[in-house]
Amino acid sequence: MVSDMESILYVVIQMLFSNLFSGILAAVAVSAAVWCVRDSLKVTAIDQKWVLVTGCDSGFGHLLAEQLDQQGFHVIATCMTEQGSSQLKNVTSSRLKTVLLNVTDSISIKRTVEFVQTEVGEQGLWGVVNNAGRATPIGPTEWMQLEDFKKVLDVNLIGVIEVTLRFLPLVKKAQGRVVNVASVMGRLALTGGGYCLSKYGVESFSDSLRRNMKPFGVKVSIIEPGFFKTGVTSLDLIETDLQRLWNQLPAEVKSSYGAEYLEKCSLEE
Ligand SMILES: *[C@@H]1O[C@H](CO)[C@@H](O)[C@H](O)[C@H]1NC(C)=O
Ligand SMILES: *[C@@H]1O[C@H](CO)[C@@H](O)[C@H](O)[C@H]1NC(C)=O
Repeated sequence: MVSDMESILYVVIQMLFSNLFSGILAAVAVSAAVWCVRDSLKVTAIDQKWVLVTGCDSGFGHLLAEQLDQQGFHVIATCMTEQGSSQLKNVTSSRLKTVLLNVTDSISIKRTVEFVQTEVGEQGLWGVVNNAGRATPIGPTEWMQLEDFKKVLDVNLIGVIEVTLRFLPLVKKAQGRVVNVASVMGRLALTGGGYCLSKYGVESFSDSLRRNMKPFGVKVSIIEPGFFKTGVTSLDLIETDLQRLWNQLPAEVKSSYGAEYLEKCSLEE
């Protein structure tokens, strides 16, 4: 009797596992098929598509501008500095145009829109990539002045909103897309300062924009990078700035943290 029970149990378990196994196998096969189909989709008529990328002096922006240019897109790359602009031009085709843009300056944005409008003509703008951003000041909340929050929010959030608003008519014309570079810190507020706030903001701005633009055939996406080696994650910059914040703290606040606290904050171990 016991051995009967055991063998029934054995068969049941075996069936369960073989079903589970074929279930997993089927799921993997379906995902692979979807992946292949998705991967085989190609953007067509690339030579008639214009893409604007902000923050192309270095990092993601520079790399993206370079890659889109290689693929044949008409890239308009905005840079903060002449140096960044000439470094990019140095490695790209003559199709790529650079513009100096300060995303916290409405007049600078307006000028850039005018330039882009002339470039794209009736085609409209197929893509806007809001990539420009800054990280510092990052540090304990109590160490911040209001100004420290504003500096980051102005670039990373208000800048993204204003650039998007101004370019939206051109994007609608092309039934294009807006791609906003958020961050994993748009989901987890791991540090104090304006950075996480700004990225949470970018996520919700993008989400409402995505819904609002759907009827117009305009797509809105976000990218949430983790910790990549770009100017934004430069530990030197972040730590120098942390030291600056510490230096300007009143003695009373400093002693409440203790001198070791700053060392523990240090990101380089
Ligand atoms: C452009 O490339 C040349 C040759 O590689 C190099 O000598 C020059 O320094 C580069 N200029 C900039 C601004 O990066
Ligand atoms: C960017 O524009 C803002 C607002 O006009 C200005 O305060 C800031 O100094 C500008 N930044 C640079 C690097 O020119």
